[in-house]
Amino acid sequence: MSFNPDTIRNIVVLTGAGISAESGIGTFRDKGGLWEKHRIEDVATPEAFAKDPDLVFRFYDQRRANIQAAQPNPAHWALAALDAHWPGMLTIVTQNVDDLHERAGARRLIHMHGEHLSAWCRACDARTRWHDPLAHRPPCPSCGQSALRPDIVWFGEIPYRMDEIDLALVDADLFVSIGTSGAVYPAAGYVQTARHYGAWTLELNLEPSQGSILFHETRLGKATDLVPDFVRELLGEEVLD
Ligand code: OAD
Repeated sequence: MSFNPDTIRNIVVLTGAGISAESGIGTFRDKGGLWEKHRIEDVATPEAFAKDPDLVFRFYDQRRANIQAAQPNPAHWALAALDAHWPGMLTIVTQNVDDLHERAGARRLIHMHGEHLSAWCRACDARTRWHDPLAHRPPCPSCGQSALRPDIVWFGEIPYRMDEIDLALVDADLFVSIGTSGAVYPAAGYVQTARHYGAWTLELNLEPSQGSILFHETRLGKATDLVPDFVRELLGEEVLD
């Protein structure tokens, strides 16, 4: 059993590292993933940054360079087409800090875990579009102080735009989770919120996620196959041609 596209108006899409895997950006928890090579507590917490900022800067400088060398894949393109053509409400919530959704053309997008291509000044609170390294402590373009940090939500920090996300989940008719392991809250709990308020909940992932049992429906496979098929189901066959 699946959802009936004719009854859907409001959609929330949640994406994770799996949607960018086929663009060559490694995931976190798969075999060989980022958290096998680096300990979260060494590079992805405020405490790590206080203890060894050089290490943390180098880690994110490398990631920032990697994502700029990657290209969006058919799953990103398909969601961008959904964004362009879906007449109802659509909120694409991504846990990813790459910019592949927006480079594919998605606009109705929330980066709940921050962005590699943004730098946040700890002195004046300004956020600046940023493509270059941060390890040499460049001055903040707004205030001139050398107080920039990666604009990434670290473990122990509060994700961005949670109020907006909660409102979208409450109104959703369809909640779709794509390429995420369901290991990190609050995103891992969105399926329960959406389902509680009446949404059909669908998972598109390579393997069942940790919260797979919470979904009405799970489709297993690669994002580059599953996501275009899903978008065709909503918009019609022709739209991705
Ligand atoms: P994970 O690495 O935890 O999970 C990636 C998921 O994608 C796994 O369930 C894989 O099975 C699936 N996957 C891999 N390749 C795929 C493909 N080609 N098509 C479809 N699915 C595929 O990544 P996230 O769930 O995004 O947070 O991780 C959540 C958060 O944990 C991240 O945002 C990051 C991390 O620590 C922060 O750094 C704040």
